[in-house]
This record gives sequence, structure tokens and C-alpha cells, in this order.
Amino acid sequence: MATTATISSLLLLLLLLLPSLFLPICGLSDTKAGAQFARRAHMKKLRQKVSHLHFYFHDVVSGRNATAVRVTEPVMNLPSAFGMITMMDDLLTEAPEPTSKAVGRAQGMYASAAQQELGLLMAMNLVFTEGKYNGSVLTVLGRNPPFQQVREMPVVGGSGLFRFARGFAQAHTHWFDLKSGDAVVEYNVYVMHY
Ligand SMILES: *[C@@H]1O[C@H](CO)[C@@H](O)[C@H](O)[C@H]1NC(C)=O
Ligand SMILES: *[C@@H]1O[C@H](CO)[C@@H](O)[C@H](O)[C@H]1NC(C)=O
Repeated sequence: MATTATISSLLLLLLLLLPSLFLPICGLSDTKAGAQFARRAHMKKLRQKVSHLHFYFHDVVSGRNATAVRVTEPVMNLPSAFGMITMMDDLLTEAPEPTSKAVGRAQGMYASAAQQELGLLMAMNLVFTEGKYNGSVLTVLGRNPPFQQVREMPVVGGSGLFRFARGFAQAHTHWFDLKSGDAVVEYNVYVMHY
């Protein structure tokens, strides 16, 4: 009699525990689409692609329509503005003119992280809003010394069409207004993804 009780309480315990044992696994792919994607990736039915994206980044720091706003002031009075952090929601367009077709936004921040020269830490999401990339995001994290001709920054990940993304972004200043601090930067992004 005692044994039966022990066994049935053990069974009850198992039944109660089982769902929680499986929960972490289910949580990883909690949508049907996610699970399907993972399955196809596992079966190698997904081909890795390399995409090249070309666009212009509008860093507007002046005026009432600024899209990049300084949130911390430089410290230590260094010419490199060490310690300054700027939050941005900068427009991305197809051509250098700000009125040309919008393709997305660069949302994130850049921080002056070097003491000896101007060297920015960039941490941003490239949020695409046009064509097949609409809704997909690339995440860029890297070093940007803006006075160099070409700056290269790693693409560390992505979502949507850019799942499993890795690659690099090359930035080249197209136009810079010393007085206002506004800039237009040309971006070439090369990215591998599924
Ligand atoms: C800000 O944007 C509005 C709407 O696009 C525009 O009419 C205005 O001229 C802009 N102001 C400045 C200072 O650029
Ligand atoms: C991008 O996707 C959003 C949300 O699905 C949609 O509202 C918007 O119209 C799309 N934009 C373009 C240009 O297709």
C-alpha cells in the first residue's frame, strides 16, 4: 500500500516536472516560423548569401530637426571629446540628398572612446524600411575614427532576412559641415546571412 502511494506520488511529480523540463527547449523557438527556420538551417536547406548594401547616413546634429543628440558632455577637456555620447535616429537614404528615397534608420549611439585622437565607439541597429529588407535589422558594433578616409566596422548580427548575419560596414564621409557638425556618410555593407 505504501509502495503504491510512493509510486503514484513519484508519477505525479514527474508529470508536474515534465513540462518545465521541456520549457527551455520550446522557449528557444517559440514561434512556428522560428522553429521552421531552425529545422531548415539544420537540414542545410538554407543557402548562405552575401549581400551588398549601399546607402547614405545623415547625421544631423544641428537645428530643430536634429536626429543625433548629445546626451553626455566630454570629460577631462580633451580635444577628442572623450566621454561624449550621442544618441541617434539617423535617416538612411538611397542617394546623398536627404530628400532621396528613404531606406531605413540608424538607431543607436556613438561615443568618444579615445583620448589621443577622435575615435568613436559605434553601437547601432540599421533598421531597414524599404523593399525586401523592410523590417530586417543589422547590428553594427565597432570603432569609427571619423577623420580617416574609410572606417571599417563589424556587423555582429541581424534579424529578419539577416538572421545569423556577419560581415562588415565601410563608412566614408561624403559631406561634412565643420560649422554645424552635420555630416552625410556613405556606407557600403557586405554581409553574409541565410
Ligand atoms: C524641420 O522639418 C520640417 C518638416 O519636414 C521642415 O518644414 C522644417 O523646415 C525643418 N526645419 C529645419 C530647421 O530644418
Ligand atoms: C514596411 O513594413 C511595414 C510593416 O509591415 C509596413 O507598414 C510598411 O508599409 C512597409 N513599407 C514599405 C515601403 O513597404
